[in-house]
Amino acid sequence: MNILILGSGGREHAFAWKLAKSKQLENLYIAPGNAGTAQCGTNVNISATDFNAIKNLVWEKGIDMVLVGPEDPLVLGIHDYFLKDDVLKEIPVIGPKMDGAQLEGSKNFSKQFMFRHGVPTAKYKSFTKQNIAEASAFMDTLTPPYVLKADGLAAGKGVLILDDSREAKRELENMILNAKFGSAGNTVVIEEFLKGIELSVFVLTDGKSYKILPPAKDYKRIGVGDKGLNTGGMGAVSPVPFADEAFIKKVEEKIVKPTINGLLKDGIDYRGFIFIGLMNCDGEPSVIEYNCRMGDPETEVVIPRIESDLLDLLQGVAAQTLHEKQFSVINDTAATVVLVSGGYPEDYEKYKEVTGLEHNGDSHIFHSGTILKDDKVLTNGGRVFAVTSFGKTILEAVTKSFKTAECISYEKKYYRTDIGKDLINWK
Ligand code: AMP
Ligand code: GLY
Repeated sequence: MNILILGSGGREHAFAWKLAKSKQLENLYIAPGNAGTAQCGTNVNISATDFNAIKNLVWEKGIDMVLVGPEDPLVLGIHDYFLKDDVLKEIPVIGPKMDGAQLEGSKNFSKQFMFRHGVPTAKYKSFTKQNIAEASAFMDTLTPPYVLKADGLAAGKGVLILDDSREAKRELENMILNAKFGSAGNTVVIEEFLKGIELSVFVLTDGKSYKILPPAKDYKRIGVGDKGLNTGGMGAVSPVPFADEAFIKKVEEKIVKPTINGLLKDGIDYRGFIFIGLMNCDGEPSVIEYNCRMGDPETEVVIPRIESDLLDLLQGVAAQTLHEKQFSVINDTAATVVLVSGGYPEDYEKYKEVTGLEHNGDSHIFHSGTILKDDKVLTNGGRVFAVTSFGKTILEAVTKSFKTAECISYEKKYYRTDIGKDLINWK
């Protein structure tokens, strides 16, 4: 089969690396890809949201399946675009249509969905210009801190968590009346703060049946001790010691099944990944958010832990035969450490030459933001690499990744030195 992956991050490199192992793969294309994906297939320099260029590429290369990495093309309707075209409609797209992508594209939609289908989540109310005057009274029913979420996609920046009610009201006005997050904040969800410990659970579904992929914990903030600004993710581990079999069973019964059945009831034919951001609140799972894609850097630990042929599973998704597919997971622990550009998540410089990638030891170096120029690897993003290693324990896995991370050099390299440390002695 000829496969096209859309996207350019570590997630897409992990997909490319895994698909390249499949005996069924003939040619792999990645658009636009990075210096890492170029080792697994052919990069094509077109944007993941340039649907016309993607259409031409699919025709030209005889692509048999498209795997969509990031949320933007899904929310913008790449799957619907394929279905509307007489030739493209025969080519499966892994990733939901616009209706399903609303689970991520609109916080208001996803909260309504969860309440409609009895999925545990924080109490909430949505506000617009029309009912902003009622926000004060609703906030008085909540215990601080207050969680404010811009309804639309806001590049991961649309969530504010504020202790002070006056500040929360001011920020609500900034979002709704002063367009702090552009039109993404025309509607704002205010919700109850969930106390607990966070993890991510991933589901692959063909719209009828599903496979629960290994869970992961992401390290979101830039600084050691999870301090400082929020980032796209500074590291991840899988499995998660506080998500044992009993907890995952609860997630399946209380969240995954009602979600899949809810999509069916709502007439949403969802074929792709669902990323469920969860809070473990004293052993009870509650949904923080849905995403219509895999997480990054979680994919860089989840995909390596999947033993089965990913291409075979994706074919099951496309043909709605996922229930027939074999699915097995590697028991060892995977940990990934993300190397970023100095300054990230604020301004940073690009195009720094990278050396030392040959010293990968026992690790796998997934590229997140790199570009090839005259056979040299240059930095090309805030997150530059995700270094994944396996171990019998979290400590063993992260130690290997830190060792490899030390060997990679580029100007102003930075990574967190405490990935997984909070979980090493978890009881
Ligand atoms: P989101 O963009 O929805 O992933 O939110 C960003 C981060 O804010 C999440 O990963 C959580 O750490 C935090 N968060 C969001 N909603 C809540 C909530 N209701 N209670 C506690 N923390 C939350
Ligand atoms: N690591 C979080 C995300 O992919 O949204």
